[in-house]
Amino acid sequence: PRQPLIVPSVLPADFARLGEEVRQLCEAGVDRIQWDVMDGVFVPNLTFGPDVIAAARPHSTVGFEAHLMVVNPDELLGRYVEAGCELVIVHAETCTHLHRTLARIRDLGARSGVALNPHTPAEVVAHVLEETDLVLAMTVNPGFGGQAYIRAVEPKIARLRRMIDDSRLAIELEVDGGITGRTISGASAAGADVFISGSWMYAYPGGKAAAVKELRTTAT
Ligand code: DX5
Repeated sequence: PRQPLIVPSVLPADFARLGEEVRQLCEAGVDRIQWDVMDGVFVPNLTFGPDVIAAARPHSTVGFEAHLMVVNPDELLGRYVEAGCELVIVHAETCTHLHRTLARIRDLGARSGVALNPHTPAEVVAHVLEETDLVLAMTVNPGFGGQAYIRAVEPKIARLRRMIDDSRLAIELEVDGGITGRTISGASAAGADVFISGSWMYAYPGGKAAAVKELRTTAT
């Protein structure tokens, strides 16, 4: 049985106090922190680049993952690794040569991840699993926090779980978007083992540590 990992998105944080926000997430017991990098082209929102992530890195006791929602991920891969991201996730929809991009992330010394938008079939990653350390099944259309979980993605999560298990490779299966204390059970039952939470965790009445505990318990 896979131990669930709880990974917050920084998107809902107060960007004027990022160092403090990162420290609070670490104190809440999260496993990693996800940075939603958006270029305003691939997705209709614009967030932060490698220099902001690098500035926050010394404030964290957990690893960083970069979720690159950008049209040309190859150009800046090295900058995210230098900024302190141990895991770099590219969107399959932005990679003409996905196999080579994933290999390049590993050559740079980071673990590689590939994200699939809700419409993108699981088969897109069938021939790159050897180059992949994590597959991210988006359960919202990327760009903004606070959107509703798309349940129609669950059969794809189950398909990805079967593909990963059949490959016998140590690949994490991550879901991202609309993950709450309620939707996490469906995503977990479908086979996900890494859960990104943004707005729900930040708004949790009992605080972030209690939110992490609830997600971890429900996913197990
Ligand atoms: C959306 C981002 C998600 C988002 C998750 O494009 O990729 O990580 O921040 O936020 P919630 O949990 O609010 O859907």
